[in-house]
Amino acid sequence: MTMPIRRLPEVIINQIAAGEVVERPASAVKELVENALDAGATRIDVRLDQGGLNGIVVDDDGHGMTADELSLAVERHATSKLPGDDISIINHFGFRGEALPSIGSVSTLNLISRSSASDSAWQVTVDQGVVSAPHPASREAGTRVHVTNLFQSTPARLKFMKTARTESGQCLDMIKRLALAHPDVAFRLTDNGKTSLDLPRRGHDLASGDMAEA
Ligand SMILES: Nc1ncnc2c1ncn2[C@@H]1O[C@H](COP(=O)(O)OP(=O)(O)OP(=O)(O)O)[C@@H](O)[C@H]1O
Ligand SMILES: [Mg+2]
Repeated sequence: MTMPIRRLPEVIINQIAAGEVVERPASAVKELVENALDAGATRIDVRLDQGGLNGIVVDDDGHGMTADELSLAVERHATSKLPGDDISIINHFGFRGEALPSIGSVSTLNLISRSSASDSAWQVTVDQGVVSAPHPASREAGTRVHVTNLFQSTPARLKFMKTARTESGQCLDMIKRLALAHPDVAFRLTDNGKTSLDLPRRGHDLASGDMAEA
């Protein structure tokens, strides 16, 4: 029996696309940390629960987003990083406008952000692809992204997750790589409440004199 060709709903399109962007907690961490770097952060805190399987928080002191920008940020193919239409001129890590909507289509994604030009913060949630309207929140300038229920709606993907310890090690490797390339940014990684990486900004906070790895 042949089936009619049909256009897939947006939620399914995003879940399929998500497979290319976010394979495991470390790839979500990579996308979120790159966004923080693109936002000009000087401090990036990453907190993991069970190697990111139960939760990932990435908090930065970058330029943040307004309520309108927050709504656009979780929309597919919306980016602030491609000012013209020439995709050979790229000055950021991202430019596809894919990462946040992809992560939000396979998790519960909560973003709280305050633009450095504004005195109020806003938050938006995407729950397995369903986007809420932005509502007022409270935080200092910068952005906090919280990912929970990763792959709960895509059990096939969930099956490929390794132990929390392995996922945690992959997140640590990813952050070390990004941190090495950005010595002017302070990085901290906390895993199940334990600090596993604490790197000050080059030339700042050098109480101990050196980069520290717990
Ligand atoms: N931490 C952040 N601080 C400030 N703005 C952010 C942050 N994270 C995302 N944004 C905004 O949201 C937009 C969408 O982010 P998203 O990661 O989905 O796409 P992108 O970074 O533009 O491209 P890519 O999909 O290649 O990563 C960004 O272009 C940026 O304007
Ligand atoms: Mg991005």
